[in-house]
Amino acid sequence: MALIGCGRAVQTPAPLRTEEQSEASGPIAAIVRPARLEPSRIALGESLFSDARLSSNGKVSCSTCHDLSRGGVDGSARSVGVAGESLPLNTPTVFNSALNFRQFWDGRALTLEAQIDGPLLSRLEMGSTWSVALTTLRADTHLAKRFAASYGDGITEANVRDALASFERSLATVDAPFDRYLAGDQGALAPSALHGYELFISYGCSACHQGRGVGGNMFQKLGVMADYFADRGQETAADLGRFNITHDEADRHVFKVPSLRNVARTAPYLHDGSVATLDGAIRIMARYQLGRPRPRPGPSRPGSALSVRGQLRSARQG
Ligand code: HEC
Ligand code: HEC
Repeated sequence: MALIGCGRAVQTPAPLRTEEQSEASGPIAAIVRPARLEPSRIALGESLFSDARLSSNGKVSCSTCHDLSRGGVDGSARSVGVAGESLPLNTPTVFNSALNFRQFWDGRALTLEAQIDGPLLSRLEMGSTWSVALTTLRADTHLAKRFAASYGDGITEANVRDALASFERSLATVDAPFDRYLAGDQGALAPSALHGYELFISYGCSACHQGRGVGGNMFQKLGVMADYFADRGQETAADLGRFNITHDEADRHVFKVPSLRNVARTAPYLHDGSVATLDGAIRIMARYQLGRPRPRPGPSRPGSALSVRGQLRSARQG
């Protein structure tokens, strides 16, 4: 089909790929639209996600810590749940969490469905039990009717897990400029973002931050080139990372590599929430993961140095 009269060649957009098709050739790939999600189940999950009745005191919902209007986080270094105490780890975003090969910093949950036990049962987060949560939800006749219409057997533990996980799967940030760039639209990224992406690849950031999520598909140690924890001091149990699960020395200080999608919106950074700015996180990565000083942005290339901001923004979060 000919496109006439706009004075500029318009590239035919690449066809939307589905999850079944193979990865792009580079280390980083575009996010694809999640397939086979039932709208009524997504809607139920969305309701549950902000339903504080899932917590023991009726005051804390998933969205208390994972505020979708703030990039899926609450902006604090350590969120506070029903116990009124700070959690041991920084809250990661729920956007694109379906892309993670495991859930949690230490990867202890294999699926989004299994992950829900973490917050629901944790004394610090929601402090509830499945039987209390289900009894409370079943007393809501409107909700019970919606569940019955969507799932034959109504409000059950499996259906609550499925609804929440369906909603989380729907939180894929598709069609960002970065995705359009990856799909072949060379003009989709601003020059400074494109330069940042080239540096990201050439510095080797993508050795660990890769795949559709630009992270979330492997475990790596924090402190490959230098001892982050000795320098920061005051090591905590949570700093042991995956070691807490496997008790294997090789897993000491090993974490799931976080996704960098929409990372500009999810400060503060790192599992300990200790780094306030993206620049600070990049400096730590350069030093402790790559063993090199972070390059200074020169005045001729404003904002260029390792800027992962522009290209990692999402379309969905606006
Ligand atoms: C009190 C704050 C708080 C509440 C409430 C909370 N979360 Fe979280 N969430 C966290 C923290 C902190 C982590 C990381 C914990 C860890 O890695 O051990 C996390 C991790 C996650 C992850 C894994 C993300 C990743 O990248 O590994 C998902 C998914 C998630 N939460 C979903 C939920 C859902 C669904 C609910 C409600 C049922 C919920 N959260 C309630 C704080 C909270
Ligand atoms: C050897 C693997 C590795 C390399 C190389 C690496 N990272 Fe990371 N990155 C990680 C791990 C692991 C974490 C999580 C560390 C933690 O919080 O315990 C992380 C965390 C981050 C974070 C914080 C994300 C958040 O949500 O808290 C940013 C930003 C980041 N990396 C950017 C980069 C950049 C930019 C580069 C290249 C200069 C880079 N990384 C190179 C493994 C790596």
